[in-house]
Amino acid sequence: MTDLPLVPAPLSATTTGGPGYVLGPRTRVVAGALPDVASTVAHRLSRLAGFAVPVTANGADEPDTVVLRLVDDAAALGLPDAGLSPERAVGAYRVEVTERRVTLSALAVDGLLHAATVLEQLAAPGPDAGPGAVRLPAVVVVDAPRFGWRGLSVDVARHFFGPEVLRTVVDVMASLRLNVLHLHLTDDQGWRLDVPSRPQLVDVSSKTAVGDDPGGYYSVDDLAELTAYARARGITVVPEIDLPGHVNAALHALGELTPSGEPTDPYTGIEVGFSRLHADLPTTEPFLRDVLTDVAAMTPGPYVHVGGDEVHTMERAEYARLVETAARIVEGAGKTVVGWQEVAKATLTPGTVVQLWDERDGAELVRPAVEAGALLLLSPASKVYLDLKYDASTPIGLEWAGHVELRDSYDWDPLAVVPGVPESSVVGVEAAIWTETVRTPEDLFFLLLPRLAAVAEVAWTQGDRRSWEGFGVRVRHLARSWDRAGLRWYRSPQIPW
Ligand code: ACM
Repeated sequence: MTDLPLVPAPLSATTTGGPGYVLGPRTRVVAGALPDVASTVAHRLSRLAGFAVPVTANGADEPDTVVLRLVDDAAALGLPDAGLSPERAVGAYRVEVTERRVTLSALAVDGLLHAATVLEQLAAPGPDAGPGAVRLPAVVVVDAPRFGWRGLSVDVARHFFGPEVLRTVVDVMASLRLNVLHLHLTDDQGWRLDVPSRPQLVDVSSKTAVGDDPGGYYSVDDLAELTAYARARGITVVPEIDLPGHVNAALHALGELTPSGEPTDPYTGIEVGFSRLHADLPTTEPFLRDVLTDVAAMTPGPYVHVGGDEVHTMERAEYARLVETAARIVEGAGKTVVGWQEVAKATLTPGTVVQLWDERDGAELVRPAVEAGALLLLSPASKVYLDLKYDASTPIGLEWAGHVELRDSYDWDPLAVVPGVPESSVVGVEAAIWTETVRTPEDLFFLLLPRLAAVAEVAWTQGDRRSWEGFGVRVRHLARSWDRAGLRWYRSPQIPW
């Protein structure tokens, strides 16, 4: 539908003719009432142009301006109002480029931030081939996301990735107009977040990782800084403390959580499902309360993820009791609970977000919970588990749910995963990367790219606006930005790069 090199594809894009706008020494961003967004936009344009694009307080009517506008209703963006939920509306935007100026309009700051990333993708070489000559084509882009939650989950427990790597992940996510970074902070192999009420967790269990590779953890300040960095790019951080299984790192640090009172040995293998909390121990509820209360307090966003997956050594009643205890603590701290699909076995507060991942039994498991008011987040492994190998020759990655080539991540319909579930019960789509075999930033980006771009388009773009052929053309342009950023990516044979 569009020849413009935009990923994800927008709802509508019209080229209006004429030369477009050439960034030059007179170009400035008009801050108006939005100085923070203006400096973000100016920073992005400066990086594009190779010279500093300044911010000025006023002058929206003058030429050579980049103007930011918050508007009150979707009609002012050129969107039909009907059917635009508040979660989708925050991401909606309009970009208008003329020979005189660039206007970015949105209903919320997030939409303006997305609009700025559209300018980056539209930028083409300018008329004078010198450095910094950048031309934006004359266009009107009017756009709104299909889903409000467009995420990526990163496992920093099996292998640790420091704040700098996560900032690059955030940059890549922002460029794809993704808006949720879910951090899998704890697992059998390591505990990656300092929890002030329980300092032993990182003192003891941040040191380990799969294969005796180096560990690491985020301090309270690290998480605060990363969260602010992400928010300035339109991305909400969702921390996950995986309970009541995947807890060996906690049991190794805190012997009081085991029936014998003895800490477990550290674990650096890649088996799953063997570790567990015990509902009957008097130490368990205080542990949950301390950890989840601290994590909620460290989280400006509305969500805390309590895990809940793969507890293979526990009766259902005890599992439900532990999940419900954790959920009550998170809700008492004012946050909405997110959990992997297994939490559907517990009694959930309406509005809880249930994350489907294992297609073998996911649909049957989550359907009753969704009918009772839970919301569905879709992470079907065979489509969006980006740690699965591309094909049999991929040097790293797992294979338990098959191989996931680029087109597998692209060609699927979120509403077909749990047939019959209404679109209004689906909050969105989240890719995931588990790091059992992922040891370096190069490994990480090699598995993420280009598949994350495919998932971003599934999450953002209405199904009738998507086409594999069009994606193939557009993602080739995008790959140049990965090259410029020095990121390693996979040259899928499905695309003529
Ligand atoms: C999971 O992959 N165990 C959520």
